[in-house]
Amino acid sequence: MDLMEKIFSLCKRRGFVFPSSEIYGGFGGFWDFGSLGVEVKNNIKSLWWKEVVHERKDVLGLDSAIILNPQVWRASGHTGPGFADPLVECRKCHHRFRKDDLKEEKCPDCDGGVTKEKKFNILVKTYIGPVEDTSTLSYLRGETCQGIFLNFKNVLNCFSPKVPFGIAQIGKAFRNEITPGNFIFRSREFDQMELEYFVKPGTDEKWHEYWIEKRLAWLIKLGLKRENLRLYEHPKEKLAHYSKRTVDIEYNFPFGWSELEGIANRTDFDLKNHSKSTGKDLSYYDAENKEKYYPYVIEPSVGVERIFLALLVDSYFEEPDKEGVRVILKLHPQIAPFKIAVFPLLANKPELVKKAREIYETLRSTFLTAWDDIGNIGKRYRRQDEIGTPWCVTVDYNTLEDETVTVRNRDSMTQIRVKKEELREYFQELIKP
Ligand code: GAP
Repeated sequence: MDLMEKIFSLCKRRGFVFPSSEIYGGFGGFWDFGSLGVEVKNNIKSLWWKEVVHERKDVLGLDSAIILNPQVWRASGHTGPGFADPLVECRKCHHRFRKDDLKEEKCPDCDGGVTKEKKFNILVKTYIGPVEDTSTLSYLRGETCQGIFLNFKNVLNCFSPKVPFGIAQIGKAFRNEITPGNFIFRSREFDQMELEYFVKPGTDEKWHEYWIEKRLAWLIKLGLKRENLRLYEHPKEKLAHYSKRTVDIEYNFPFGWSELEGIANRTDFDLKNHSKSTGKDLSYYDAENKEKYYPYVIEPSVGVERIFLALLVDSYFEEPDKEGVRVILKLHPQIAPFKIAVFPLLANKPELVKKAREIYETLRSTFLTAWDDIGNIGKRYRRQDEIGTPWCVTVDYNTLEDETVTVRNRDSMTQIRVKKEELREYFQELIKP
């Protein structure tokens, strides 16, 4: 089994990720996140929000609608050729393919002839209103940032931020990807975390560099290994329609180096185009210098699922042991779904179970804590290692005498005894960022 298969299997078996609509045979490019997966996703999102919004004085949050006025996508250039995949279409079954994926000029599904390469838009269409015609055609957002540009004036009016400042948003984005794949790497529905950082034209290049460094440092802080990350400069001729310069942070996935996060210099493209298309002035007035201008925008943008996958790849280890192989997810404690697991040494000894339950209830009021009393202690450790729980607490007969417990470390497997009443403080110190 290769690493991607092992990760896929672990995710399904242990309740991180399930194929969506599985009992109907699945639905390509859509995934459901189980109890452990949703915790990891929430941890990624809240750490991003803390870093990008709460710990700064110059960034404001936003949660805008998924479906926007369809004219937005015309002004942003997304219904034009800019947000499209060049594809060929089978004349018989109408399936679409990337030309590079075809061995010959024939449809791999039905042998039909194929059209010349055309650009197909990847925005997901829907209809809003009582009739389904072109007048009600709308789109699920293909990127979250457009909601930010639309609210630029509202934010200025309410909070009077001074340039440079940012607006950040986390939310669903949808793309009718023609070739979804590599598990959750390329999905049709995903969570994006985007910051639009508005700067004075002329200072944009400096701020672009600043955000490239910041974002790289954050991904390393999250636990990703530096050697698995690299920067990729988009060649000028391949830049997105809105970009002056884009640098990707790539991750060394098992299927090759691929985009984890993009950091683009979007210039004043969006604010200017929305101004032009609505007649509303989306420029910024600098009262101190009595200057009016359209700010340039530096945009770090990343998918939660891509970080999720990179973290799994980075933290997956197999170590031979007495019983075969120990599988460990060496996740950063702030990312791990459970921080601690509590066990009674023997599940059939009520005095141990009672004591362990007390400790479990105390710890779970502060940390997400697992309870496990099935099978022998070795099996319980293995189960927790596989889902990344950094520490296991075992209550044994010594606990009843001296009020201490065994704390076992996931990565080193070392065990120490800690006083029951010191546990909370002990873990708080270890989990601290
Ligand atoms: N607003 C700019 C923008 O959307 P992008 O490079 O198309 O730029 C930004 O997307 C990030 O969103 C990517 O770096 C990736 O992390 C994530 N992303 C894009 N398409 C995705 C997909 N189909 N599945 C999962 N994540 C995706």
